[in-house]
Amino acid sequence: MAKDPVRVLVTGAAGQIGYALVPMIARGVMLGPDQPVILHMLDIPPAAEALNGVRMELVDAAFPLLKGVVATTDAVEACTGVNIAVMVGGFPRKEGMERKDVMSKNVSIYKSQASALEAYAAPNCKVLVVANPANTNALILKEFAPSIPAKNITCLTRLDHNRALGQISERLNVQVSDVKNVIIWGNHSSTQYPDVSHATVKTPSGEKPVRQLVSDDDWLKGEFITTVQQRGAAIIKARKLSSALSAASSACDHIRDWVLGTPEGTWVSMGVYSDGSYNVPAGLIYSFPVTCNAGEWTIVQGLSIDEFSRKKLDATAEELSEEKALAYSCLS
Ligand SMILES: NC(=O)c1ccc[n+]([C@@H]2O[C@H](COP(=O)([O-])OP(=O)(O)OC[C@H]3O[C@@H](n4cnc5c(N)ncnc54)[C@H](O)[C@@H]3O)[C@@H](O)[C@H]2O)c1
Repeated sequence: MAKDPVRVLVTGAAGQIGYALVPMIARGVMLGPDQPVILHMLDIPPAAEALNGVRMELVDAAFPLLKGVVATTDAVEACTGVNIAVMVGGFPRKEGMERKDVMSKNVSIYKSQASALEAYAAPNCKVLVVANPANTNALILKEFAPSIPAKNITCLTRLDHNRALGQISERLNVQVSDVKNVIIWGNHSSTQYPDVSHATVKTPSGEKPVRQLVSDDDWLKGEFITTVQQRGAAIIKARKLSSALSAASSACDHIRDWVLGTPEGTWVSMGVYSDGSYNVPAGLIYSFPVTCNAGEWTIVQGLSIDEFSRKKLDATAEELSEEKALAYSCLS
């Protein structure tokens, strides 16, 4: 029997990531090839015409799984009945703007969109925040949507996770699908800590630790980390535009694994509400290694953290605590 359609909201849908993301969702990349979807697309009035253009292209593409499109500049209409919300819309930092001014704009966007989701989304709606500052936007959303369980509010660090897999695959000249269990700890910013301490590669003679195969700790503790941390800036330099297709694809990976589960023995990185695991302060949205099953994520427990890693976990937590304080100061 055909499944009922799932309603997926994409905010900022007229933007670059939105343009890459909505066809992926409509093709079943996010929720599977047998899951019909209804797309809800939200943008702001100045982007209404462009948004309508995206709507027209979705009609023209005749996606069999796409059972309807809502394209609107009204947050209430956009949020009504949605099962999944991918929050890509936000206020970008422009030249000469203070951090506080950008934070203040995003706090007010995420506060009001949280209220619309709180009031109108389907029960148990799952939320993924992509727009930067992603972790802190997600935290504000959680604060102002108190009836949505904290476990349902996440932010995207899967792009960083996939970037780390990609770097290891290039360095070792192995298939990216044979590399697993890297971790992105902390903030989706340049303080994030891409960690390969527990990562492995599938080889003809079994799974081997990445550290052993790379056999160059200076590279793993230096260039590897900075390349992943600064990959976004490298893409902007090359493309003159920020990453869009990889961000959209990673957003699909994030939701697909959350809803459909992670493969046995594999974990992924998700920005989730900290419960104090690994001595990360509770109450931050922090990226952890997680496994997913039956629509629920669980932080992987018991991984050893050496002194080098401890410092990095703490530094990115500190930045998130500062961001949180800044965001709260914008509320008062
Ligand atoms: N977490 C990640 O891994 C990651 C990766 C790449 C980009 N990003 C972030 O994703 C966001 C979007 O990137 P992009 O390249 O698509 O930007 P973009 O500027 O092309 O698109 C953003 C869209 O959001 C819309 N928008 C602005 N305010 C809105 C609001 N209040 N409600 C609804 N829509 C609104 C804009 O009109 C625009 O269409 C940025 O914040 C970017 O920094 C995050």
